[in-house]
Amino acid sequence: ALNIQLDKPSGKISPHMWGVFFEDINLGADGGIYAELVKNRSFEFDEPWMGWKKLENGVEGTYLLVNDSKRKGNKRYLRLNNAGNLKLGLQNEGFRGMGVKAGGAYEFSLQYQSTAKGMTIHVELLDPQNKVIGAAELPLDPVASWSEAAVKFPVNQTTDKAKLNVWFTGEGTLDVDMLSLFPVDTWKGRRKGLRKDMVQMLADMKPGFIRFPGGCIVEGRDLANRFQWKKTVGPISERELIINRWNTEFKHRLTPDYFQTFGLGFFEYFLLAEDIGATAVPILNCGMACQYNTGEVVPLDELDEYVQDALDLIEFANGSTATKWGQLRAEMGHPESFHLKMLGVGNENWGPQYIERLAVFKKALNEKHPEIKIIASSGTDPEGDRFDFLDDKLRAMNIDIIDEHYYRPPSWFLSSASRYDNYNRNGAKIFAGEYASHTTRPNGPGKSTWEAALSEAAFMTGLERNGDVVEMASYAPLFGHVDGWQWSPDLIWVDNLQVYGTPSYQVQKLYATNRGTAIIPIMRDGESVAGKDSLYASAVYDESSKELIVKVVNYNSQPKKVNLDVVSKKKLTATAELVTLANPDLNVSNSLEEPLNIRPKESTVVYNGKKLVQTFAPYSFTLIRLSTK
Ligand code: AHR
Repeated sequence: ALNIQLDKPSGKISPHMWGVFFEDINLGADGGIYAELVKNRSFEFDEPWMGWKKLENGVEGTYLLVNDSKRKGNKRYLRLNNAGNLKLGLQNEGFRGMGVKAGGAYEFSLQYQSTAKGMTIHVELLDPQNKVIGAAELPLDPVASWSEAAVKFPVNQTTDKAKLNVWFTGEGTLDVDMLSLFPVDTWKGRRKGLRKDMVQMLADMKPGFIRFPGGCIVEGRDLANRFQWKKTVGPISERELIINRWNTEFKHRLTPDYFQTFGLGFFEYFLLAEDIGATAVPILNCGMACQYNTGEVVPLDELDEYVQDALDLIEFANGSTATKWGQLRAEMGHPESFHLKMLGVGNENWGPQYIERLAVFKKALNEKHPEIKIIASSGTDPEGDRFDFLDDKLRAMNIDIIDEHYYRPPSWFLSSASRYDNYNRNGAKIFAGEYASHTTRPNGPGKSTWEAALSEAAFMTGLERNGDVVEMASYAPLFGHVDGWQWSPDLIWVDNLQVYGTPSYQVQKLYATNRGTAIIPIMRDGESVAGKDSLYASAVYDESSKELIVKVVNYNSQPKKVNLDVVSKKKLTATAELVTLANPDLNVSNSLEEPLNIRPKESTVVYNGKKLVQTFAPYSFTLIRLSTK
């Protein structure tokens, strides 16, 4: 029997326990959640014509790329010289096509300068057979300096592989930049905002936090290409793009066109966190590039700039509008504080160089902002040795939270359900900042099968039972685009129009939407519930809904009948609500065609006041809710 001591909570669970990890990997941001449809809109990619095609050849000098060093962040633009009877046009291929919907409205915009009269732009969207499925005219007023022009138009056909033609007519010289196409229908209707369906998937999880912007892109392949938050705020056209760290590593997987335009920058990340009720958890570069790449390290006497970035970020998020960075936040439309509470220093950095640099950050942050909790990275290590080395060092430094990453096979997740049962309760808490069960590691791309998801569910019972020391947890990576990805498995897959959650998504969602406030001791016949007879369990009480929530994983091909004994003075409701994810075949998965193969099924079961007898299906994850109201 499972013995549940409802009246003897053994600890508190952090309110932001279950969250999400966001990184621009697998076209997660550009080509993904950031709804821009034009690739290389400002001709700033290393190869300026990437994504573009000239529709008419013209004569020499008709399409001229100008590099103007005076332009902030975005130096290159296109000069079109039209002598009269020429027909000039450009075609953009989008991010592996453009996803557009019949009945939807789209907004084309650009920056331009031209004093010529009678300049007009004609835009048209084409389907894969080159049929026009939406078009608009945009007359341009003569202007002496850079201005914006925009036009909205409807589309009459759905396709995930549209392309955009932009024709320029009129005589004279026309400078253009930031050629852009967005759906009007974005998340919260924000102009040039985020893909609604993708954000909705996150909102549905009710995540306790959102970690951003990564991941390895925090570090960059080299320090010049590290993520610098200051370059991602302010006017979008002034945000300087860089090559994505995930661009070159996996060239064989066809992502040589992967750049970070930062249309989704730190302001937008904070806004997203606020929108979905999640605590913002930014991770900053610690003065070290990705150790799996160049491993560049900034000398200690040049670390000031990096530390200042951290201090200024706190001002940007929380500072009064009278401060420099607080004022920028207000100018961007958010005078109120974003209530930043914690930030990470370094991602998967290790060794003595990390400890030295972290110490400098910690001193400065503790002095100026003792209210901000510091998350330190303990990297990832297949054998676990690095964890132990860093763990000691980080604890000795009184770090608030240690960020552990585990990408391991299902067997590791199952045997690690007890990982934190006897963990050091003094000092640092744990952030399971990136984890996923990899069925095929190390030989190839993994698929988020039911096997992977169920082993994660089993492991997560262990995180939840130890919620007093495990402060936060997030699966990684979050998004994968079926036509352009570097890493698999991922939690959520998309194409240019659709989105679906993997079985792991269903597991994460069930945990996050059934979180508790207190840990309730749960034992099996006086023993641990971390895998004996392939059974795993955890229990929590939720103060706001006044419910006892029990989670049970049966990782067995046979059904398992179990008595649940709830010991309590509280009166429990006569009906228990059950939610089950189950499949006897561990290899099944969800897909764009069958997005809900593995999906939660709800039922109820009678509870006689003392005992609940439940038969857990083969290979199942079951959640039982009992109300004490
Ligand atoms: O989640 C994918 C990558 O895995 C992250 O960028 C990195 O932190 C880890 O190695």
